[in-house]
Amino acid sequence: MQSLYGKVVLITGGTTGIGLAAAKAFVANGAKVVVAARNREQGAAAEAALRAMGEAVFYGCDVSDPLSVEALLRFTVEHFGPLNAAVNSAACDFMPAATHEMSFAMANSTVSTDVLGVFHCMKYQIEAMLQSGGGTIVNVSSVNGLSGAPAAAVYSAAKHAVIGLTRSTAKEYIGRGIRINAVCPGATETPRRTRRTAHLTEDQLLEHQAQLAQAIPIGRLAQADEIANAILWLSSAAASYVVGHSLVVDGGLQA
Ligand SMILES: NC(=O)c1ccc[n+]([C@@H]2O[C@H](COP(=O)([O-])OP(=O)(O)OC[C@H]3O[C@@H](n4cnc5c(N)ncnc54)[C@H](O)[C@@H]3O)[C@@H](O)[C@H]2O)c1
Repeated sequence: MQSLYGKVVLITGGTTGIGLAAAKAFVANGAKVVVAARNREQGAAAEAALRAMGEAVFYGCDVSDPLSVEALLRFTVEHFGPLNAAVNSAACDFMPAATHEMSFAMANSTVSTDVLGVFHCMKYQIEAMLQSGGGTIVNVSSVNGLSGAPAAAVYSAAKHAVIGLTRSTAKEYIGRGIRINAVCPGATETPRRTRRTAHLTEDQLLEHQAQLAQAIPIGRLAQADEIANAILWLSSAAASYVVGHSLVVDGGLQA
């Protein structure tokens, strides 16, 4: 991972869960990291934790707002210099619901954050990388972006779209020095998952976790740093010939 030393990296959703684990992994390998998200309290906590390890800063940004993303890219380049790598991990809290019962508000917020948010980020990240001579982008999709997910149809559609954005832009920009890939995590222990099961009693939670683990060949959920390791590898020179790939990290679920 020596190729990441001194690189400028932007991570959306970088204040919690998979994004924060990726930020820690980049900083531990000597990169300078901007973590961007909406929640400023979580941002301050993430910045403090990352600064104890190396160079990092938080910037408040809503990826569903193109002007906010444009300002984020301006900040990143002014603060640390030309952008070398980006990880798009931000996604809204999707609450599972039968499709005929899903609210328009939930569907809209999923599409505007998880699909348009990734588009807004890539638009300005690519613009910055074209000016600085290239870079890498890793988008965080999901195993739900590769197959259907009952009670999560819009989330699944959004994560399929992230793979479409990844594959299309990978072909479009590899000739100009920008290498773009996606990672598709399976069930991963993050604050997002904790929030989703917050309504369960302790017994229900234990049963839910046991059922989930049983369905995964490796017999457990992923830890966020296991996804971060895949993101780090895709961003590094070790993956120099990997282009437009959707790397599944799911403990064997899709196998
Ligand atoms: N946890 C899982 O089981 C799992 C599985 C597959 C894929 N994923 C994907 O991994 C990514 C990270 O998820 P996580 O589990 O770490 O969740 P998380 O909730 O811990 O992190 C999501 C981050 O996105 C940020 N965010 C949300 N809306 C935003 C917006 N409009 N603008 C800017 N930032 C915003 C949040 O502040 C948070 O930092 C997501 O794309 C998610 O879909 C997660």
